[in-house]
Amino acid sequence: MVAIAVMGYGTIGSGVVEVIERNKKSITERAGEEICVRYVLDLRDFPGDPVQEKVVHDVNVILEDPEVSIVVETMGGTKPAYDYVKSALLAGKSVCTSNKELVAKHGAELLNLARGKNLNFLFEASVGGGIPIIRPLNQSLTSDEIYEITGILNGTTNYILTKMAREGAGFETVLKQAQDLGYAERNPSADVDGFDACRKIAILSSLAYGHQVDYEDIYTEGITKITAEDFKYAALMKRSIKLFGMSKREDGKFYAMVSPVMIDEDHALYSVNDVFNGILVKGEVIDQLMFYGRGAGKLPTASAVVADVIDAAKHRNRNIMTTWHSSKLTLAPIDDSEKRFFVRVRGELTEGRTRVERLFGPVEYVDAGLPGEFGFVTGTLSEKEFSDKSKELEDMITRIRLEE
Ligand code: HSE
Repeated sequence: MVAIAVMGYGTIGSGVVEVIERNKKSITERAGEEICVRYVLDLRDFPGDPVQEKVVHDVNVILEDPEVSIVVETMGGTKPAYDYVKSALLAGKSVCTSNKELVAKHGAELLNLARGKNLNFLFEASVGGGIPIIRPLNQSLTSDEIYEITGILNGTTNYILTKMAREGAGFETVLKQAQDLGYAERNPSADVDGFDACRKIAILSSLAYGHQVDYEDIYTEGITKITAEDFKYAALMKRSIKLFGMSKREDGKFYAMVSPVMIDEDHALYSVNDVFNGILVKGEVIDQLMFYGRGAGKLPTASAVVADVIDAAKHRNRNIMTTWHSSKLTLAPIDDSEKRFFVRVRGELTEGRTRVERLFGPVEYVDAGLPGEFGFVTGTLSEKEFSDKSKELEDMITRIRLEE
């Protein structure tokens, strides 16, 4: 029997307990032993809940029980999660977490600590919810050199953008609907400002390239400025607008960015809609791989955490090697990265054309029939070139990057 403790009995933590009970038979067979939840750590009590007798409020009860060999951390945030996870590893317990903030900030250190003690620190659920992506990067793709990861990594924003595209509604209206349905938080900033996707691409990039990618270094732009009018142009261009988390290695330099992008129907991620996530991985010998599924939600995310618990149970006293060095990967400034840009400008095309072409050379115009404005798509430019030229375009309403 493997005794485990679950720290944090919110949506994911209670999902972990539910999945362990629901699939007890097959989980026991696959782990080689029965997995039993001995403690649930939470500030609250849960009278009437099946775990009510297991609830403890003091982390030391877990840390001091030598029979608990695996700890699940589903509290979120870094305080007190970081201290609790570190203490659990120091006390000789493997840790499985869904906490992207903790992993993005302290992943390298906690992996190192686990390695030194022949334990495991596993975090499949921290990116892409129920989608297996950490284990493929860490185990199935180790023969390759990964050079690009592009993902729709946030379900909330993908839901909002999909609704805006389908219904022609504005950002605020759809955000409100998403909040009412529980798909967006009352304070939606982490999702809509791109911070959640930023932490996730930082984790994936650290694993793919083997060195610490600090999320603070990643240029991050959210979806709050995307409007119903932008989608009118996108529809005419047979494109969709998605929030991408991207990182790539090009000519020995590493770039990373979170940004809304326009993609056409040939793009592998074009059909990733609603709350679903999709992750495209490119490697030198594997070519391209796509991962698709539910990137959030109680049971899909819990399924990934429990799979980690099974892995930890199968690897007791044996560390599963993960290459994520604490030495930092320096990202190149995005100034050098090249793209085409879709631009909306105030005014009439007949009057603005000369100025646009003087600045950007030949462009493709897009007429969405919106009064007092026109749109165009530039040729390929570096971010710096675009930024310099657009400063001279005083009447610019917005710009959205194109991804091919
Ligand atoms: N709000 C996040 C999302 C939850 O929508 O993807 C999972 O990290």
